[in-house]
Amino acid sequence: MCGIVGCIGSKPAAPMLLDGLSKLEYRGYDSAGIAVRDGEGDPVVVKAKGRLKVLEEKTNNGHSVPGSCGIGHTRWATHGEPSERNAHPHMSEDYFVVGVHNGIIENYQELRDKLIRKGYQFESETDTEVAIKTIDYYYKKYQMGPIDAIAKTMVRVRGSYALAVMFKEYPGEIYVARKDSPMIIGVEDGETYVASDVPAILKYTRNVYYIGNLEMARLTTEGATFYNLDGDVIEKPLTEIKWDAEAAEKGGYEHFMMKEIHEQPKAIADTIASVARKGDQGKYIDLETLELPEEVIKDISRIYIVACGSAYHVGIAAQYVFEDLAEIPVTVDLASEFRYRKLLLDPNGLVVIISQSGETADSLAALRIAKESGVRTLAVVNVIGSSIAREADHVFYTLAGPEIAVATTKAYSTQLIASYLLAIQFGHVKGLLDAARVDELITEMETLPDKIEKVIDDKDRLQWFAAKFANEKDIFFLGRGIDYAISMEGSLKMKEISYVHSEAYAAGELKHGTISLIEDGTLVVGVCTQSDLYEKTVSNMVEVKSRGAYLMGLTSYGNYNIEDSADFVVYIPKTDEHFAASLAVVPLQLLGYYVAVTRGLDVDKPRNLAKSVTVE
Ligand code: F6R
Repeated sequence: MCGIVGCIGSKPAAPMLLDGLSKLEYRGYDSAGIAVRDGEGDPVVVKAKGRLKVLEEKTNNGHSVPGSCGIGHTRWATHGEPSERNAHPHMSEDYFVVGVHNGIIENYQELRDKLIRKGYQFESETDTEVAIKTIDYYYKKYQMGPIDAIAKTMVRVRGSYALAVMFKEYPGEIYVARKDSPMIIGVEDGETYVASDVPAILKYTRNVYYIGNLEMARLTTEGATFYNLDGDVIEKPLTEIKWDAEAAEKGGYEHFMMKEIHEQPKAIADTIASVARKGDQGKYIDLETLELPEEVIKDISRIYIVACGSAYHVGIAAQYVFEDLAEIPVTVDLASEFRYRKLLLDPNGLVVIISQSGETADSLAALRIAKESGVRTLAVVNVIGSSIAREADHVFYTLAGPEIAVATTKAYSTQLIASYLLAIQFGHVKGLLDAARVDELITEMETLPDKIEKVIDDKDRLQWFAAKFANEKDIFFLGRGIDYAISMEGSLKMKEISYVHSEAYAAGELKHGTISLIEDGTLVVGVCTQSDLYEKTVSNMVEVKSRGAYLMGLTSYGNYNIEDSADFVVYIPKTDEHFAASLAVVPLQLLGYYVAVTRGLDVDKPRNLAKSVTVE
């Protein structure tokens, strides 16, 4: 949940650290800090509560902090309130060990008590300070080298971490370690970098190493040496990042979220093109890169989709599509629930983990549980080389590119596309969809990017409408089937960035309690893209209207009789109804965005949230 960056080379470190942190601010933004060493001197540590700009002002954009070796951190508080005292870096006495950390040390209280008994004092309430002082303790007590002291600490702590640490006696070196929290290392011309995520170092290098779970590394100007937990040197392949650096910049848009909404057509087209091919019998799907052969697909008796947040909403939509096109029973679970449930997984089942970051702690834990029970796993992931991607048996990479806004848009859209493609291929392999139908479905999917462009073109109308309802207390979203899945995502988009309370309801469920919340003028959004459920949902909309609700209808062109009931209607282009979520979600993303903008909120970094939830 926090962002780590570090660098060592010949150039001034502090400006690079601040620049790198600015690309990681989406991971946490309640305080930030840097520690920079000039030669053999003690590090200069500067911290500030609040957004990164406070730290930038305090350090004259880094120019007032000399030195070419340093580490930095942007924090999303877990242990201890957001404050300068709790901000990282943390250090042991006399700057012996100085470090930053992302993750959670679960047994920090027990370790802290032990260290206090050994004479250590604590300046902060953080688990990080405990980790740093535990390293210091082993380092001094056993007179070990940094790698051994960190390894001993890794064995002693429980939880997740990415750590970057400097030792007083090892100037010009940074030591890093990770377990279940993301971390990459970059190298370029005598400069070595470490970061929680690629955008932080993309300006400086495209050559990266992915450090594995329970591994460590020593960084110098000459590059990185990797170690396993036994302290043995291990080899790692160098990978080239193919992203365009501009992909992680705002490119003229006021917010990343708006830029990413506009990037959806391309992200979707790229994701389709990654597996869709053209042959003699028309278009077909090739899952060769997933290493998922047809014999395996034929045997899948059940699908368990597991995810969090918006990715879970993709799962709900995907359930209807899989069950309809591939006739495989699907259950959809929140990863945080799945991991603590008594699971009676079918041995011929397939667990599908959906995750943009590939680092979400609950989703990663769910994946590991599924693997331990011997069930085949497939990950739908956006971030290449992420933990979930590395550990799953099969990986479907969504090609959304870097997603920076905390609220997901384009990653969600590509996850939907991945699930349609899987459902079509599973249906085909099971003999339910012939080649002609597969060709027809792929061809229809290929029209989605243009149709999304058309929906986005209508954004001014939504901006006007959002301004009218920006002061709402509650907003409700209703739908049935796939429209219910769309409602869930629309509601999440609304509440997470605009802070207006909103709820999504299966339209038929409303009168079992929630309808009592409807007051005069309450905004209710009815999603009606599924023709067999259209009239039923419209009836539910009329029920709330007669209790005073103001109705917004969201439906496909042609369903003009909705205007008899709704006060305001947004139309989306017609498409195969299995794919309706891909179009209908866009106006709801725009609605949430414009309500948040009208309320003057920080759309890209909503309060209390972080992009990558690497803690439970
Ligand atoms: C909401 C949002 C979150 C994520 C959730 C899962 O806009 O972005 O709900 O969908 O935290 O994250 P990933 O997909 O990285 O596992």
